Amino acid sequence: MEKYPGKKKMAVFISGRGSNLRSLVKYSKQKKSLFSILLVISNNPDAKGLKYASKSKIKNYGIKYKKNSNFENRSLKLLKKYNIDILCLAGFMRILSGNFIKKFYKPILNIHPSLLPKYKGLNTHERAIKNSDKFAGASVHKVTQKLDSGKIILQKKVKILKLDNQKSLEKKVLKIEHEIYPKAVDKFLSNL
Ligand code: GRF
Repeated sequence: MEKYPGKKKMAVFISGRGSNLRSLVKYSKQKKSLFSILLVISNNPDAKGLKYASKSKIKNYGIKYKKNSNFENRSLKLLKKYNIDILCLAGFMRILSGNFIKKFYKPILNIHPSLLPKYKGLNTHERAIKNSDKFAGASVHKVTQKLDSGKIILQKKVKILKLDNQKSLEKKVLKIEHEIYPKAVDKFLSNL
């Protein structure tokens, strides 16, 4: 019998700390959530988030690899084995190939620490401060072959204050990330 009948089976890809993974796991345990997390994969076997997954009794794999394609092929096998319906990238610092996206054939979501379409890629907070932006924020979007460019599912903004620096802004935005990622997943799933 299915452990969580009716819920979509989610996998999460991480590379490090895993604080977004933590917020997804917490939310998924609520009755109202539309997903349950069955699998965590990291391209970095030392990722802290893997320890959290173990503690939460979620199957997890840190994959050592030389070529990106080795990581992707091994992951695809695991996604199939666990019959995963949706993949969420949470602080996953690799770009997935078009081949992977095509082969997985299920939705992939990502959280990005900026108000997309502004500041795709890295160093988002540094760039927002440099440009004297009034607001920063986070976006959850669908993953397509074009980096940080898929359809936006949910965004939230936060004011950049004069006293803010990269570190303080990062902290504020991370808090927003934790808030919107699980909500965005449920919003996405309820519209399927
Ligand atoms: C987050 O800010 C995420 O948006 C970015 O990397 C950070 C990862 O944090 N891509 P965590 O591993 O979820 O704690």
